[in-house]
Amino acid sequence: MANENKLQAIIGHCKEYGFIFQSSEIYDGLSAVYDYGQYGAELKKNIRDYWWRSMTQMQDNIVGIDAAIFMHPTVWKASGHVDNFSDPMIDNKDSQKRYRVDHLIEGYVETLDKEKGDAILHQMELLLEANDFAGLKQLIEDHKISCAISGTCNWTDVRQFNLMFSTEMGSVADEANVVYLRPETAQGIFVNFLNVQKTGRMKIPFGIAQTGKAFRNEIVARGFIFRMREFEQMEMQFFVKPGTQKEWYEYWKETRMKWHLSLGIAADKYKFHDHVKLAHYADMACDIEYDFPMGFKEVEGVHSRTDFDLKQHQQFSGKKLTYFDTEINQHYVPYVIETSIGLDRTVMMILSEAYVEEDLSTEEKQDSRVVLKFPPMLAPIKLAVLPLTKKDGLPELARELINECKTQFRCFYEEKDSIGKRYRRMDALGTPFCVTIDHQTKEDGTVTIRYRDTMLQERIALADVKKLVMEKVEMFK
Ligand code: GAP
Repeated sequence: MANENKLQAIIGHCKEYGFIFQSSEIYDGLSAVYDYGQYGAELKKNIRDYWWRSMTQMQDNIVGIDAAIFMHPTVWKASGHVDNFSDPMIDNKDSQKRYRVDHLIEGYVETLDKEKGDAILHQMELLLEANDFAGLKQLIEDHKISCAISGTCNWTDVRQFNLMFSTEMGSVADEANVVYLRPETAQGIFVNFLNVQKTGRMKIPFGIAQTGKAFRNEIVARGFIFRMREFEQMEMQFFVKPGTQKEWYEYWKETRMKWHLSLGIAADKYKFHDHVKLAHYADMACDIEYDFPMGFKEVEGVHSRTDFDLKQHQQFSGKKLTYFDTEINQHYVPYVIETSIGLDRTVMMILSEAYVEEDLSTEEKQDSRVVLKFPPMLAPIKLAVLPLTKKDGLPELARELINECKTQFRCFYEEKDSIGKRYRRMDALGTPFCVTIDHQTKEDGTVTIRYRDTMLQERIALADVKKLVMEKVEMFK
């Protein structure tokens, strides 16, 4: 399936089957904001849980916190976001439409052959690195890159726009009450560094993890849930002794890539992209890119953030944020390696990987199915229990099985339609196991279990169903 078609098919499927809806759809939607429906919310929660358990429970020295979205406004001054968290933008004078310069150029490059496109992207990266705004405008004009709405090349100068959303706290709307919606969760970790270190008696090297919403006023928000204005991050700051950051950076690059591979995704669907233009806080940084239907794009960042953030908070708050290292009898401000992955982007990655349209036609009849081949541990529903008929005590047996299993994993009961139709619906929701209760169940206590990916069916003991499913959906073996 062509990639653009695949993206559209996934978007359509997500809406039709209750995974993801456009926010405020009945009011024609809110751009780049999405709601998760009943199955999307389960999928997202399972991914979040897998990340959380991998990064806290499975580690000896990482703990998790849950910091507030609102923070003292000086946090964002100290972190550099007030002054630096901006992107070069350009407006089309005819349509009044504003574009992020890199997205405008990238969009144009997608229409070119690879060699030509790469040359332009390289030129753009150099200009961005040098903050050469006149050069960026020249590049846009030289290639006659036009506005998608007006079709003209009548551009303003390139200017910086801050991406943070702000609002007022309290009843008086004046400058002093301005608070920001956090653009990253990381700062909630930095400002709690000493609270956690002291109360948890943490010894360096140690990490603090958290998941939560972040907000960015993205100007060009494209690609479904790839780039949103309200999204969720899963971040971990790992505090290390100064001078050891290079080895920990490499360690976390490798560890995070292993996590991605543990999702059952092939290694050639990923690549590292080392940053040329480093963020204001980093001395080394890379992206882990996944081969989305739109091509290789960032899903996670691994950043060596130096001691920038803690030092800035020390300076702006006037409070010491040092650690006393008993091994060397010294106080120091730790260095930080950050792993930062977008939860929504991971949902999109899992959906892109799982979505398959299969042609099942035989000589006798045309047939096909859409199936979401989620890793069982991430599937929204783990087990569907389907009584063959609505009578003869079969629904009661089905309910009994659900009652036995539902404390451990999500089950689904369905008695409408033919068994074939019910199987297909479960395929479309990504349910890895379906169990059919029939008349034979009453006689010999066996059921038919049907496996989503192979569509194979076999008879097993009703008493073995729970154990079988539990083994397959376990996150950690
Ligand atoms: N604390 C570092 C930080 O925020 P980032 O590279 O700006 O770094 C980290 O963001 C991750 O957050 C990205 O790799 C991406 O997965 C996700 N992300 C960033 N902006 C996003 C957006 N507008 N929509 C969805 N996900 C986004």
